[in-house]
Amino acid sequence: MALRFEILGRFNRARAAQLTLPHFVCQTPLFMPVGTQGTIKGLTTNQLEEIGCQIILGNTYHLELRPTSELIDELGGLHKFMNWPRALLTDSGGFQMVSLLHLADITEEGVTFQSPVDGKPMLLTPEESIQIQNRIGADIIMALDDVVRTTITGPRVEEAMYRTLRWIDRCIAAHKRPNEQNLFGIVQGGLDPVLRDICVKGLVDRNLPGYAIGGLSGGEDKDSFWRVVAQCTAALPEDKPRYVMGVGYPLDIVVCSALGADMYDCVYPTRTARFGTALVPEGVLKLKHKAMADDVRPIDPTCRCMVCKNYTRAYIHCLVTKDAMGSQLLSYHNLYYMMKLSRDLHSSIIQGQFPEFVRKFLRKMVLVLE
Ligand code: GUN
Ligand code: ZN
Repeated sequence: MALRFEILGRFNRARAAQLTLPHFVCQTPLFMPVGTQGTIKGLTTNQLEEIGCQIILGNTYHLELRPTSELIDELGGLHKFMNWPRALLTDSGGFQMVSLLHLADITEEGVTFQSPVDGKPMLLTPEESIQIQNRIGADIIMALDDVVRTTITGPRVEEAMYRTLRWIDRCIAAHKRPNEQNLFGIVQGGLDPVLRDICVKGLVDRNLPGYAIGGLSGGEDKDSFWRVVAQCTAALPEDKPRYVMGVGYPLDIVVCSALGADMYDCVYPTRTARFGTALVPEGVLKLKHKAMADDVRPIDPTCRCMVCKNYTRAYIHCLVTKDAMGSQLLSYHNLYYMMKLSRDLHSSIIQGQFPEFVRKFLRKMVLVLE
């Protein structure tokens, strides 16, 4: 195992921990920005360090298409290639192919898809996904899983869960760098508690360095989503990190942390920035709105980020959708917001003030929802 996970504080099921990875010592709960092509759109790695980002996510599928894992390996690994000294995680690729390419088809062998480069049929097997991720060199690599949308029910959900369990053994056997990279398994099983339970037990038997809860954030209602997270976190080992994939909104992160989850990733903060939306304690602020045109306040007067210290809403309103700088400034602020949220969760749990933090967080949010 190439990680250490030490719980520093708890409040009921919530935990604050120190996760020591080969490239960085992280504090949890933590949020990972998504850097699909080896970059977080619009931000330099120096800026990511400046806002306190500890670990970022890359996608096997995108990196393999361009620049390819062979080239990344040849040039010394992804950390060096993208000039990022801190931790990295790569997702296995299957989920991206299924969600991006409707032509992807899953068989026992792996995920078959048409290459977006030349249209040729291609196959990503569990062995290949791990081999690619070994070449990329991230601190945490993800098993190839069979993902089904939570809105689908019936035998396909069961098939995908059992296939995910069969594939984990092929991933473990293919993993050639267990002392430098941590292979996480992914719990599938849709919204069915029996299937989720079988999957958790199967993965825990493999004694992996960490576990992810997958197949969520695909259009299910919040109640079902939180129920699955609560069930999985209750059944996963206490002394291993738990990662809820593709989540999410600030509120989801607060709730999942209360349920005992430790890690999150989502494109939301940077994607919504590109559409002119800022994350603020009250919820969201739409910078495109004409009311922003002459508003001389910062995005969030309580935020201490570089953008809020230096720029007005009026200025960002003027740039947004017209100049790349607009979405860059918004991405910076939004990721700063997510990093601050992670730090606040961590420190409030350690200081025994988690319920107060959650209450204050919800009270501010609710104001705008009303
Ligand atoms: N990203 C968001 N959800 C998932 C999932 O279920 N599996 C994988 N591999 N990646 C994800
Ligand atoms: Zn700010």
